[in-house]
Amino acid sequence: MAFSFFMRDQQVLEVAAEHLIRFAAGRSKIRVWDAGCARGQETWSLAMILAERMNPFGFRNLKIDATDHDSKNHFGAVVTQGAYSFRELERTPRELVERYFRTQHDGDREFSQVTELLRQKVTFHYHDLLSLKPVGGNYCLILCKNVLLHLQYKDRVAVFRMFHEALTPGGYLATEQTQKLPPEVAHLFEKAVPDAQLFKRVEQYSSSVDL
Ligand SMILES: C[S@@+](CC[C@H](N)C(=O)[O-])C[C@H]1O[C@@H](n2cnc3c(N)ncnc32)[C@H](O)[C@@H]1O
Repeated sequence: MAFSFFMRDQQVLEVAAEHLIRFAAGRSKIRVWDAGCARGQETWSLAMILAERMNPFGFRNLKIDATDHDSKNHFGAVVTQGAYSFRELERTPRELVERYFRTQHDGDREFSQVTELLRQKVTFHYHDLLSLKPVGGNYCLILCKNVLLHLQYKDRVAVFRMFHEALTPGGYLATEQTQKLPPEVAHLFEKAVPDAQLFKRVEQYSSSVDL
């Protein structure tokens, strides 16, 4: 089910962006993974929020991996082109649409296309979370919203473990408001804020001492 829309869970996106920016200040590589991006509405929403708030140096170092598995295998083309109907952008603040979209024509059809400034930040990968192999590593932020609820409990636990490994130490994981951390992985993350599902990677220390 690929239901999504621009600026969905805006509060989570904004809190995640705020923490990411503080955490990643001064880093030469700022990697973000949007896991389960559907047709990219969430990816571009986050990209716009970051473009608005990051300083030019930080924004230059930002790279976003957007991933999804879709049975028809067409999300990649949609995300990469960044082309959407005017109707899909109705809930997005006008000033953001004016700054980050351009009207394009294809014959009689008119649509909005994400500007090159944002498109160069995002790479789409076809990816099944259940492969348990991340598309990259050292992420400062992983965003996975309204996806985990579709997975069986044991798979959800395994995916949380994969996210822990794919994050850079101290990096953040954001989920939808209703997602609870399974007890099996509760030691891997700490809640970053009380009012949003934003978690910080906790380091694991071995209690055994090598002599
Ligand atoms: C309801 S949409 C959520 C889209 C977006 N994250 C949001 O919050 O609006 C769920 C997405 O998760 C994707 N998905 C479900 N299971 C997946 C899996 N095993 N691997 C990768 N993507 C998956 C679906 O294809 C769909 O695009």
